[in-house]
Amino acid sequence: MSTITAARSLLASQQRSDVLEAEIERYPSAFRVLSGDRPTGALHVGHYFGSLANRVRLQDAGVELLVLIADYQAITDRAAAADLPAIVTALVADYLAIGIDPERAIIFAHSQVEPLNQLLLPFLSLVSVAEIGRNPTVKDEVAASGSGTVSGLMFTYPVHQAADILSCHANLVPVGRDQLPHLELTRTIARRFNERYTPGDPYFPAPDGLLSRAPLLLGTDGQKMSKSRNNSVPIGATPDETVRLLATAKTDSHRQITYEPERRPAVANLLLLTALCRESTPEAIAADIGSGGGVALKAAAADAINDRFAAIRVRRAALAAEPSYLREVLAAGNDKAAAIADATLERVRELMHHAY
Ligand code: TRP
Repeated sequence: MSTITAARSLLASQQRSDVLEAEIERYPSAFRVLSGDRPTGALHVGHYFGSLANRVRLQDAGVELLVLIADYQAITDRAAAADLPAIVTALVADYLAIGIDPERAIIFAHSQVEPLNQLLLPFLSLVSVAEIGRNPTVKDEVAASGSGTVSGLMFTYPVHQAADILSCHANLVPVGRDQLPHLELTRTIARRFNERYTPGDPYFPAPDGLLSRAPLLLGTDGQKMSKSRNNSVPIGATPDETVRLLATAKTDSHRQITYEPERRPAVANLLLLTALCRESTPEAIAADIGSGGGVALKAAAADAINDRFAAIRVRRAALAAEPSYLREVLAAGNDKAAAIADATLERVRELMHHAY
């Protein structure tokens, strides 16, 4: 895609997201939202501001929320970790602690929902190998692997993601920009299925992406924040751990703290993080710190995180002490997701002349 085409399509997605936000306000019950995380480690404050808080907002606005723990996506490039069960229950604890309500939302793991996974087969028949290979994430993985070690699961994972989304007829998927091509493939699969098997009476809704409005937070080292880079503050970290993690954060040598994202990205990132926690602006935080330098900035960021997440952490600690309750919440969510996916698979079989 040329830069201009890419910019145009991003703009179109942003405009579409604004329209969708207005519709959500008016008719929340018309939306079923699916969002998900890979269980590769603890959720961190970047996830919170980038997407978790938005899920709670949507839930509280009255949309139907499904939260997927994408455990098959965690094994696209590595063996399943022995501590996966602990990571998964910790994710459930994070979800509940931040305000996802298991009475209203469905939390499930896609490995536990058999009819969802079965949809991968018919969906694979609707896309070409070349099309999957053009998906930017897949393409990057293939390019980076060089020696050809990309797994078949990695290669097909955008199709699996389509099965996640379409198995439950989600019509809205909150996304960052990098996930837009996956959603486009899901839309293609839905359209082709409808054209082939239900012409004139579409069965699968084409889901919309809801682009995140959150500003992008970097990790404490100024690089992309990531669970695996060890540059993030887990939601469930203790106040002391938070102070220690922030103490190692990158800043620069100027004592006067100013918000200049282009010129001072590491400093700007800590200001942004502090501002998000304090519901303030990075400029106001910078003015407060004045000539305190990097040490004062890091202390301010740690304090802001500790204040903002104090109540969430109290809830999280109580939940973590009840692993059997967390497993029950997940089992109940798995059952609900399976009931929905079962109905979808049954209809798909009928429509595909696979009902004998
Ligand atoms: N690919 C998403 C990520 O890496 C996770 C995910 C898997 C997902 N299936 C999904 C997100 C379905 C939304 C809908 O973050």
